[in-house]
Amino acid sequence: MKINIHYSNLNFDELYFTGKTSVVIDVLRSSTVIVHALKNGAREIIPVGTVDFAIKVSGNAFGGQTILAGERNTKMVEGFNLGNSPLEFTPEIVAGKSIILYTTNGSRSIVKAKFSENLFICCYNNLPAVANHLLALNKDVEIICAGSNGNFNLEDAACAGRLLNEIGKVNKLVEIGDSGRASLVLSKLFGKNILKMLKKTDHGRLLIENGFSADIKECAQFGTTDLIPYYVSGAIKKLETETARTDTVNESITR
Ligand code: MLT
Repeated sequence: MKINIHYSNLNFDELYFTGKTSVVIDVLRSSTVIVHALKNGAREIIPVGTVDFAIKVSGNAFGGQTILAGERNTKMVEGFNLGNSPLEFTPEIVAGKSIILYTTNGSRSIVKAKFSENLFICCYNNLPAVANHLLALNKDVEIICAGSNGNFNLEDAACAGRLLNEIGKVNKLVEIGDSGRASLVLSKLFGKNILKMLKKTDHGRLLIENGFSADIKECAQFGTTDLIPYYVSGAIKKLETETARTDTVNESITR
């Protein structure tokens, strides 16, 4: 099993991902938002690469069950129904809905990797579940860190390192390159206290400045759900697998 980590979503043509197994990480905040929305009953998330396309798609079908969500410079896009804060995606608002999502780096990275054979979304909340699922699949993996405007960011790189670490605990034969080795070091250095790390990152500081401190706490939660978002035919849905048990089942066992 070979795992390749990319620190930017800009260096590839879409066709690079054809037939591959890929994972998109955007810890702050769109991966976490997608996990929250699906956990709270959203039917699907439709990631888009531009605001214009989001508006165009929302004009079509879906029988009034569509929510337009997303951000520009961390704030809700004018005319949209929701921004990009995980806490906004409550069951009351999202259950049964199709959510069209535009975000500066996250949704665009997902669109970029859309020709992958398997495409999963990962954040700290669901990281152990994603690791277990990748181990079960046992295929080579491309990890795309959404980064910041085509550049490296610490939170996605460290999260990718944690994912590598979880996989490496079980599969000792994982092959990695320099970006993988760097991510492992970053995860070890900064990942012990995820909240502290997120608060110090460039994007974390911007979110705090813009009043989104509570989001950072949410994004820092480790392994709180087994939900794995999976992109297929233009939409992200909850993956139904034996390894991805549902939270409901889990709750009923512990009761
Ligand atoms: C992004 O895609 O760049 C983000 O999720 C930005 C944010 O809203 O924090």
